Amino acid sequence: MVTPTMEPFAYRDGRLFAEGVDLADLALAVGTPFYCYSHAHLSEQAERFDAAFAKLPHLTCFSVKACSNLAILALMARRGLGFDIVSGGELARCLAAGAAPATIVYSGVGKTAAEMKQALEAGIRCFNVESPGELDLLNQVAGELGVTAPVALRVNPDVDPQTHPYISTGMKENKFGISHREAVAEYQRAAAMANIEVVGIDCHIGSQLTSVQPFLDALDRLLALVAQLAAAGVTVRHLDLGGGLGIRYRAESPPTPAEYATPLVERILPTGLTVILEPGRVLVGNGGCFVTRVLYTKENDGKRFVIVDAGMNDLVRPTLYGAYQEILPVAAHAERPNRIVDVVGPICESGDFLARSRELVVVRPGELLAVMSAGAYGFSMASTYNTRPRVAEVMVQGERYHLIRERETVASLMAGEHIPEGV
Ligand code: LLP
Repeated sequence: MVTPTMEPFAYRDGRLFAEGVDLADLALAVGTPFYCYSHAHLSEQAERFDAAFAKLPHLTCFSVKACSNLAILALMARRGLGFDIVSGGELARCLAAGAAPATIVYSGVGKTAAEMKQALEAGIRCFNVESPGELDLLNQVAGELGVTAPVALRVNPDVDPQTHPYISTGMKENKFGISHREAVAEYQRAAAMANIEVVGIDCHIGSQLTSVQPFLDALDRLLALVAQLAAAGVTVRHLDLGGGLGIRYRAESPPTPAEYATPLVERILPTGLTVILEPGRVLVGNGGCFVTRVLYTKENDGKRFVIVDAGMNDLVRPTLYGAYQEILPVAAHAERPNRIVDVVGPICESGDFLARSRELVVVRPGELLAVMSAGAYGFSMASTYNTRPRVAEVMVQGERYHLIRERETVASLMAGEHIPEGV
């Protein structure tokens, strides 16, 4: 008997529902594949996470890269959250969704001069600067505009988050941040710059962390630096701890937002510092699922395949990280046996799978499958490889649903392409 690992999606009489809406009805209404988000789950997670830091002056900045649909950004903004962005594109999305510029922090190792200008003109809260070269350029761009840039240096605390190597970002071999050994000197340089105002200190150590200890280690490193900075005459007002809190995909038992926040709050409270958080996955991951239809089933030399209408372009996590995401039949078939199958897509790559060697109830062509915990880094990492238009996104709210992104068309994919004369 399969049971969903989370409440926003649950069986009623053998049919998988998103809140009060039958996913099979949604599939008929919007076609497949599609992403489906639960309004209640997203709202509750945002409120729960933010409330966990209530004892401190704080700002929870949703990490836009996890799920950047305008409706989701608007939902977060209306619940008092700010945003963590990594591009001019994400800045434009936040502003379009109604975010206040003063709630936006800008991370990333490769900000361009044009993006810096865009963010300075908007009046964002802070640039998380990741290299001496970036600091120089930001000072120059701010000078040209006649403004001052608010800055935190992203310090690489060199702690091991014990997560997948592709998503661990705070160790010295990663490209992110400035070494904590060089941080004081770099802060002194920043403090002396005409168009830079030092406002904070920042780190982000990785993603899908399932224990609190690495966060505490990073916090200790940062607090030690704040003390060294004060001794060197540089004051910071806020401490940005980045994102990274994990979710349950399968058997993980990550700390709840309260379990994560409590020891951090305890240590930060006496410092008087404001804290900024940049959660992504924990706010949206379990609030989304991805629905696909079975096209064919086949057997090659005893190996069974379920071929679905969704591929690695739509959901890349399984193949890119070897990530496990639960797959549930939209109509439960208690009477059918289970089989070990590969769930694969239509793309011409062997890496095009949603699950490998997975025990799944027997499914037939035309039936629907739901890939769970797909709210974070699902649609936002989708591509149009094989000229496959990106899929629709739907938000369910009680008994109602809203189409929050239309399925792309092939015409929209070809728009902007030109065939030169004499080609
Ligand atoms: N802040 C910064 C500077 C980041 O680089 C990230 C994520 C976050 C916050 C949010 O982290 P979260 O709370 O979501 O763990 N595509 C991968 C995850 C990449 C995370 C990149 N940085 C995946 O699907 O697992």
